[in-house]
Amino acid sequence: MPIVPATPDAIRRAAQALARGEIVAFPTETVYGLGANALDARAVAKLFAAKERPRFNPLIVHVQGLAEAGEYALVNEVARKVAEAFWPGPLTLVLKRRSTGGIAELVSAGLDTIALRAPANPVAQALLAKAALPIAAPSANRSGHISPTTAAHVEVDLGVRPAMILDGGPSPLGIESTVVSVVGPKPSLLRPGAIPREAIERLLGDQLAAAEAAERAASPGQQPGHYAPRTPLRLDATTVQPDEALLAFGAHVPHGARLTLNLSQSGNLEEAAAKLFASLRELDQAQASAIAVMPIPPTGLGEAINDRLRRAANRG
Ligand code: TXA
Ligand code: MG
Repeated sequence: MPIVPATPDAIRRAAQALARGEIVAFPTETVYGLGANALDARAVAKLFAAKERPRFNPLIVHVQGLAEAGEYALVNEVARKVAEAFWPGPLTLVLKRRSTGGIAELVSAGLDTIALRAPANPVAQALLAKAALPIAAPSANRSGHISPTTAAHVEVDLGVRPAMILDGGPSPLGIESTVVSVVGPKPSLLRPGAIPREAIERLLGDQLAAAEAAERAASPGQQPGHYAPRTPLRLDATTVQPDEALLAFGAHVPHGARLTLNLSQSGNLEEAAAKLFASLRELDQAQASAIAVMPIPPTGLGEAINDRLRRAANRG
């Protein structure tokens, strides 16, 4: 089995595998990523195959920091300010791509922009440093499935085995990075994520624009049907049926579900984000008629949690 504890030796071998054009799954602070050398178009093509992902879905390139970002993209003033505040961390910036950077065209799926992120997870950082390469890495799930927050999730979900799955324990944040485009006249939020919108708006002293329709289309990870469990979801549930599974939130939980998992008894949104995908997976196994989901407040991390839940409910 390719799951390997992320020791320094394993990280060194994973870096060598990346340099040879192989794909490697690795932990980040948000979710597990499925990585390939972003300079190697064939390696990137392998990624799309492993994810069974529609071709024209651009990938996030993971870098060590701002200096590397500048090799592959035009880092404007707003981008620098946001990156200085939130990198390393769960923030992805969509920037104008430098044609001289050497990133495979396939990574941006033909767009003239590129999504970059410097992860905070020490294993991800060590892998980036050892490989000394930009690493293209979507979440390590099969396309349309729930993002993996453990090495075991990666292993059960992917049809094609990566060369290695570096096990760095459960992802502490549990929800993907916030994606902000700084390409247009005003920074815009393309995907709510682990950094709340409010934190970025406070830094900028301005509201993030809603993504333009064209940019949303260019960010197809935002299709409504993304992140779907097999069991239908019923949102904003305040009661529950005996044949339903319940995704609960808070201290006051209706009784009588076939299986109940509480995202956070104390109503803490960070705890809820960290447990969201693993809980959806477990409830999906319960042979329930539906997964009833209790209301979750829409502010802070609640924006990203509600976004993922709406997508999971919309299996169009
Ligand atoms: O937390 C995360 O972001 C994880 C970890 C592994 O870093 N990665 C992740 O990647 O969620 P992925 O491929 O599942 O989602 C990437 C998102 C998608 O919504 C994609 O459409 C958007 O970023 N994206 C990538 N490049 C883009 C670009 N040039 N323009 C607009 N959106 C882009
Ligand atoms: Mg994904």
